[in-house]
Amino acid sequence: MREKLEQIRLEAVQALEKLNSLNELEDFRVRFLGKKGELTLLLREMGSLPADERPVMGRIANEIRAFLENELETKTAVLKEAELRQKLESEAIDVTVPGKRPAAGKLHPLTTVLNELKDIFLGMGFEVAEGPEVEYDYYNFEALNIPKNHPARDVQDTFYINDNILLRTHTSPVQVRVMESQKPPIKIIVPGRVYRSDEVDATHSPIFHQIEGLVVDKGITMGDLKGVLDVFAKALFGPETRTKFRPHHFPFTEPSAEVDVSCAICHGAGCRVCSYTGWIEILGAGMVHPKVLQYAGIDPEEYSGFAFGMGLDRIANIKYGIDDIRLLFENDIRFLKQF
Ligand code: PHE
Repeated sequence: MREKLEQIRLEAVQALEKLNSLNELEDFRVRFLGKKGELTLLLREMGSLPADERPVMGRIANEIRAFLENELETKTAVLKEAELRQKLESEAIDVTVPGKRPAAGKLHPLTTVLNELKDIFLGMGFEVAEGPEVEYDYYNFEALNIPKNHPARDVQDTFYINDNILLRTHTSPVQVRVMESQKPPIKIIVPGRVYRSDEVDATHSPIFHQIEGLVVDKGITMGDLKGVLDVFAKALFGPETRTKFRPHHFPFTEPSAEVDVSCAICHGAGCRVCSYTGWIEILGAGMVHPKVLQYAGIDPEEYSGFAFGMGLDRIANIKYGIDDIRLLFENDIRFLKQF
C-alpha cells in the first residue's frame, strides 16, 4: 500500500510538471482525485489493511490528496492568468493605426452635367418638367407638325411598339403635354432619355439624353431665345464663349436654327475637338411653330414662344473631353472614377 501511494505521488508530481492548459488540469484532477481516480480507488482498499496500518496509510493518503489539491489550485490560477493575458494580447486593438477609408461613391458625369444645366436654367426662372419615355405617335410626331411621310418617322430611326405607340425620339413631345395642361406663361426645361434606332458607335447610341427648353408667353421673340442661350453658353463653357445661330429646319419651329458655341478648348482658333472650325454645334432651336401652339390649344395670335433641344451626352463629352459616347453607358468603374 505504502509503495502504491508513493508511486501515485511520484506520477502525480511528474504529470503536474507537464500541465499546460486548463483542459489538461481537469484531466489531471479526474485521473488522480476524481471518483474513479487513482488515489480514490486505492483508498477504497483501506478496509482490507490490518487495523494498525490504516491510520498511517490514511494520513499519508490525505497528505497526498491535500498536496495535489493545493498544487492544482495554484496551477489553475497561473494558467488562468496566462490564458487571460494571451486573449487580451490577441484581441488588442491598436487605436493609433490609421483607419481604412470606405470607398466614396461619385456622381456619374451625366448627372453632374445635368445638375449644372438645371442650376443654370433654374437661375433664369425655368422649372423642370418631365414626360413619358413610352410615348404616343401623336405627341412625338403629329402634334409637333411632323407629317406622316417625314423621314424621322421611318422604322429605321424610331422604335415602334405598335402603330400608335413608340419610344420617344426626342424630348419635344413634352412641350405639347405641358402646353396642353398649363396656361402661359410657360418656362420649362425637360431633361430625359430618348431613343433612336441607331447603330452603336463612338458618336451614336440607341439611348441618349436630351434637355428640352420651352418658353411661351405674350411677346416672346427670337431675341429672347438668343439671350437665354447666350447666358446659358457663357455659364456652361465660360464667360468668353460666343454663340452663333445657323439657319436650319425643324417641322415644329419656325424660324429654326442650329446653335454653335465657340470652342471651349481652343477659343475659336481651331483644334481637334472642334474639327478645326473653332465652333461646336450643341443644340437645335427656334420659335414654336404656330401650328404646334394650336395643336396644344394655345392661340398663336395671342402667344408666341421659343424652344430648344440639346444632347446631354454630347455636352458632357465636350465638357470632359470624352471622345466615345459608349463610355457614358458602360459604367466601367475605371472610367467613372476619373470624375
Ligand atoms: N427635337 C429636336 C431634335 O431632337 C431638337 C429641337 C428641340 C429643335 C426644340 C428645336 C426646338 O433634334
